[in-house]
Amino acid sequence: MNAMNKKVPLRPQDDLADALVAEMAAVNVLIRERMASKHAPRIPEVTAHLVEAGGKRLRPMLTLAAARICGYEGDHHIKLAATVEFIHTATLLHDDVVDESSQRRGRPTANLLWDNKSSVLVGDYLFSRSFQLMVETGTLRVLDILANASATIAEGEVLQLTAAQDLKTDEAIYLQVVRGKTAALFAAACEVGGVIAGAPEDQVRAFYDYGDALGIAFQIADDLLDYSGTSAQIGKNTGDDFRERKVTLPVIKALAKATTEERAFWTRVIEKGDQRDGDLDHAIKLLTETGGLQAARDEAFVWAEKARDALSILPDHALRQTLCDLADYVVSRVN
Ligand code: IPE
Ligand code: IPE
Ligand code: MG
Ligand code: MG
Repeated sequence: MNAMNKKVPLRPQDDLADALVAEMAAVNVLIRERMASKHAPRIPEVTAHLVEAGGKRLRPMLTLAAARICGYEGDHHIKLAATVEFIHTATLLHDDVVDESSQRRGRPTANLLWDNKSSVLVGDYLFSRSFQLMVETGTLRVLDILANASATIAEGEVLQLTAAQDLKTDEAIYLQVVRGKTAALFAAACEVGGVIAGAPEDQVRAFYDYGDALGIAFQIADDLLDYSGTSAQIGKNTGDDFRERKVTLPVIKALAKATTEERAFWTRVIEKGDQRDGDLDHAIKLLTETGGLQAARDEAFVWAEKARDALSILPDHALRQTLCDLADYVVSRVN
């Protein structure tokens, strides 16, 4: 069934936040505690700038929710949730340097306010802090999962670097990039929640599959919003992907339908990097007219459905329904 026909709560992440309010408060306390540095005041300055701006905190909530659904009663899931958000924060600092972005979470980026050096080094610090935190859980399996996810994120970002500016980038490469840079952390965030709760293997796998599909749907939606959203809506500048000459799914879909003249346009702006006033508007027009945006949207809905399907074997729990709604919500943002 098409998710658009279903009733979707306005913001399931708010339901998640309500259900997990005490645990998320503990996660936020831990984040503030561990972002401190005895010797380098620049570290908490830069981190606070980003952390205090909020962010949806989706990934740590996924960890907490997975643990809860599996009946976990300990407190290691708080550390794991903080670990996951630290990894996310580190990747955002690095990503904004790489993408030369100037806005994040509705604020100027750290690379703009301070400099690239601070963003890279503070990002490194936060990565290391995340490893310290997860070690405290004493569970080798979660170290394995989160260490692998960190490597996969970096791999996805590097793959994207070489896939950008190249119109030969196809859907398979795009999927590999997105799985790496975004879905790997969503998947790991969900998986470690199940693992820490000692859930049976088929449930752990279901959490992984849910996170993977959710992350892919989420990133396709993010790539759509880069063309079709507003800066106020996403707290980031739109048009960043176009400027960075990234071959995202809407562009791949539009290229498949492009006339010779349209292909010449994409070659000029993406491959040659010769971008002029009005080109972004023209790109949006082509993406709309060729159905590129719609085709990417359809694909996002397919991944959201896969995410929902993965949940079916999990224990019956109110939070399971919230995770289901969340899958619909991440793609409904682009309707
Ligand atoms: C931003 O993720 C990076 C992407 C994978 C697109 P979020 O949209 O979850 O970022 P915050 O944490 O809510 O700001
Ligand atoms: C998201 O990258 C993934 C990571 C941050 C690793 P993007 O570059 O697509 O995301 P935004 O649009 O900057 O949030
Ligand atoms: Mg970026
Ligand atoms: Mg990026």
